[in-house]
Amino acid sequence: MKIFLDSADLNEVQAAAGWGVISGVTTNPTLLAKAEARDFKEVVAKICRLVPGGPISAEVISNDTAGMVQEARELAAIDPQVVIKIPVTPAGLAAVKQLAAEGIRTNVTLVFSTAQAILAAAAGATFVSPFIGRLDDIGQNGLGVVQEIVTVMNTYNYPTEVIAASIRHPQHVVGAALAGAHIATVPFKVLRQLFEHPLTAQGIERFQADWEALQDIK
Ligand code: G3P
Repeated sequence: MKIFLDSADLNEVQAAAGWGVISGVTTNPTLLAKAEARDFKEVVAKICRLVPGGPISAEVISNDTAGMVQEARELAAIDPQVVIKIPVTPAGLAAVKQLAAEGIRTNVTLVFSTAQAILAAAAGATFVSPFIGRLDDIGQNGLGVVQEIVTVMNTYNYPTEVIAASIRHPQHVVGAALAGAHIATVPFKVLRQLFEHPLTAQGIERFQADWEALQDIK
């Protein structure tokens, strides 16, 4: 499973890229607002340079197909790495179909059911993003939905890749991997948490202390 960073914060993208573990980035209007990304296209271009070759998702905000397609063309012109994030609505999937014909990659977002993911794949989505955390928040089983979507994509050999999104903690990442998701898009805080284990910290401390003791013996 690949790991993407779910962030529009350039400092976070730079740090995570430096750790060598991310191969793409997803953004959305909320993340761009949080990062105070006033020149949104410039921020997307910078993210592309920080994660060379990786898919970088940028979301459209129009509600109609023509508006989404127009926005998508403008975003795709920023860099070939840009993938267009489009909500799973009838207008959105019509846009996905048109963009697929133009060779523009899409990430169908705000997916909360297997039925929605099937529609996204049928329209030719490159990626589909089920939101785990938001499903858990309303008492549903987010990882269960990811598992079902992966099963359907594999059963019918859809080329659509599943991005497990709305990840809130490390167990969501592990669960997404066990469910067979192609990608997990992970907030910076959770990515940092993935490294952590008390025995790793204790082990480093112990190795350092023993190494220093060895220097004293010499
Ligand atoms: O990028 C979409 C998704 O990951 C949003 O997550 O935490 O706002 O539900 P969250």
